[in-house]
Amino acid sequence: MTAESKYTLKKTGKAVLDCRGTPVSYRDRAAIVALEKAHESALAFRGDPIAEIDVVIADHPDFVMAHLFKAAWLTQAMETRVYDDMVQAVNAADKIIHKANDRERGHLEAVQAWIRGDFFGAIQKWEAILTYYPLDLLALQLVHQTDVLLGDVVGQRDVVARVFNLWDEGVEGYEFVLGFYAFGLEENRDFHLAEQMGRLSLAIRPENPYAVHAVCHVMEMKGRQPGGIRFMYEHVDRWGKSNFVNHLWWHTALLHLDIKEIDRVLEIYDQHLRSTGQEGAKYDELDSAALLWRLKLLGVDTGDSWKDLADKWASSAQDTLYAFNDVHAMMTFVSDDRVDAQNLLLNANERYIESASDANAAVSREIGIPFCLAIQDFHHERYASCVERLLPVRYMTHRLGGSFAQRDIIAWTLLEAALRAKQYHLALALANERSAFKPTSPQNWSYVAQAFKGLGDQSNADRAEAKAQSLIAG
Ligand SMILES: [Fe+2]
Repeated sequence: MTAESKYTLKKTGKAVLDCRGTPVSYRDRAAIVALEKAHESALAFRGDPIAEIDVVIADHPDFVMAHLFKAAWLTQAMETRVYDDMVQAVNAADKIIHKANDRERGHLEAVQAWIRGDFFGAIQKWEAILTYYPLDLLALQLVHQTDVLLGDVVGQRDVVARVFNLWDEGVEGYEFVLGFYAFGLEENRDFHLAEQMGRLSLAIRPENPYAVHAVCHVMEMKGRQPGGIRFMYEHVDRWGKSNFVNHLWWHTALLHLDIKEIDRVLEIYDQHLRSTGQEGAKYDELDSAALLWRLKLLGVDTGDSWKDLADKWASSAQDTLYAFNDVHAMMTFVSDDRVDAQNLLLNANERYIESASDANAAVSREIGIPFCLAIQDFHHERYASCVERLLPVRYMTHRLGGSFAQRDIIAWTLLEAALRAKQYHLALALANERSAFKPTSPQNWSYVAQAFKGLGDQSNADRAEAKAQSLIAG
């Protein structure tokens, strides 16, 4: 099937329908096909969807859905540096919205809500579109991925569940829907079905990094490190060509870290996560900071890596757009001893939460700032204070967004701080919790051993460490 034919438009009466039968107000066939291709680039993490849609917009300035695709896709970056482009695209759509249909007006209202900082309002608008147009792949993708960004764990799965029965292999883009469902199921700990959906997606379209990612999350959560590492390297040629590749390397590094292959983790950092651009996408730098912080918790020397990374985060110190970004920026500022940058970030957040009413403000107040302060405490060896800050928020951290695997950095910091504060009873409870959840993790058993040792129970410490060593030996 050629790229042209698979996007064949359907016509019903006066309405033009796209390849999934969703109505489009603009009537130029080539323009609608070009929009589909840009969207496919975004879904498959290949090419440059924004550059592609800019070409469509230049040739078809009255194509409202082209402007709205651009604006909607830019929402997902969660970065102030794309804000002006996002506003410009949505304003261009607004000027010609009288030509649009109700579905397209819904997309406009969703991005307008987002720009006001009403992220949850945007989700509701996209969900309303899906109620009437369940095959609107863009709306489905935006709700699912925004639920990930905002930490709505149940929503990530259920938005797909609401439309899933209406999709099958005959509908263009089904493999991407399987990928969304796989990830949503995994985050809700339905690991078996998640893996099934992810692998089915890959059977239909092997070049689907999001499905690779969902299966990898299953491996991570279930502690299937050797199988996970093998799976990732088997698919490495199919990870796409976007900053999502960094995230997949980060996942691979986590699997190595869990079985204490530290040299391989450092190699992955140097070869794949140490980005060279001064102003890279924050999505890249998040993963880099998250990996370096885990190595710091384990006492691994990472040389000048923190300095390079802090340089890249410096310009974002006062963004206050997304608490998830701020905590990762703080890891770099603290670890490179940049007091001014730390103060800029904290002062900007204090000013922001005093007056802001957007969806991020409450998260910054309740999770983001406490974690930033805990990061400072940890670095300055105020371990008891670090524990005090993290213990009350540890089960609320999903609100920060991201995945369980990403947010595990908070629980890990808490446990390491408890050990260093010599709060061994607490450390044992936390380590036991981790090893109960992931009993195949050598790292978790080493933590159990350290806690027992702190309590003076050498016998149980030896047993736990032997368990860790036997897991490493495989
Ligand atoms: Fe992930």
